[in-house]
Amino acid sequence: MGSGEPITCVPLVEEHLPARVEWLNDPRVRAGITISFQASLEDTVTWFRKAAEDETRADFACVSQDGSPVSMFGITDIADGSAALYLYVAPDLHAKGIGRLTMVHLLKEAQRLGLTEVRLEVKAENTSAVRLYERFGFHVTGEVPGEAKLKMTAVVR
Ligand SMILES: CC(C)(COP(=O)(O)OP(=O)(O)OC[C@H]1O[C@@H](n2cnc3c(N)ncnc32)[C@H](O)[C@@H]1OP(=O)(O)O)[C@@H](O)C(=O)NCCC(=O)NCCS
Repeated sequence: MGSGEPITCVPLVEEHLPARVEWLNDPRVRAGITISFQASLEDTVTWFRKAAEDETRADFACVSQDGSPVSMFGITDIADGSAALYLYVAPDLHAKGIGRLTMVHLLKEAQRLGLTEVRLEVKAENTSAVRLYERFGFHVTGEVPGEAKLKMTAVVR
């Protein structure tokens, strides 16, 4: 996967879940996100079936031209035109521009859902994520009390 190669983002399906479990258990992904449990395929399938029925969220996988997953993102807690989001890139593919490509799709999806604002929380030490979000128009609105995390918000245009 080179930096000039396009990606396609599609709604998450069960065949993406083994990659999701692998990534969620990878220390390079866990360093950036807040997750305390070890992910298992069984629990993730159970989570997915519930999530797929949940109208307040939409989960996606982005794949490279050969069909292998390169990133996943989700728009969650959708209410009153605003929502939270998450994003992670396959651990072997960090720092190759996939986060940037994924954000383009994420914000298009947010627009398609009619959202006017998206928000997230990010570890203050997660420089690549903070930089990525700032590049896409997010700004820091505060800190999460008691955690070394920033709250960030962007207007969807
Ligand atoms: C954070 C994450 C989504 C960024 O995606 P990525 O594909 O690795 O990053 P990109 O190559 O698109 O680069 C995004 C920006 O971060 C910078 N960057 C990338 N890796 C970096 C590093 N190791 N240190 C500092 N900056 C870095 C890039 O230079 C780029 O900034 P620029 O546009 O100003 O040049 C990805 O690394 C990831 O999934 N990390 C683990 C999970 C996570 O942290 N998710 C976000 C939680 S809020």
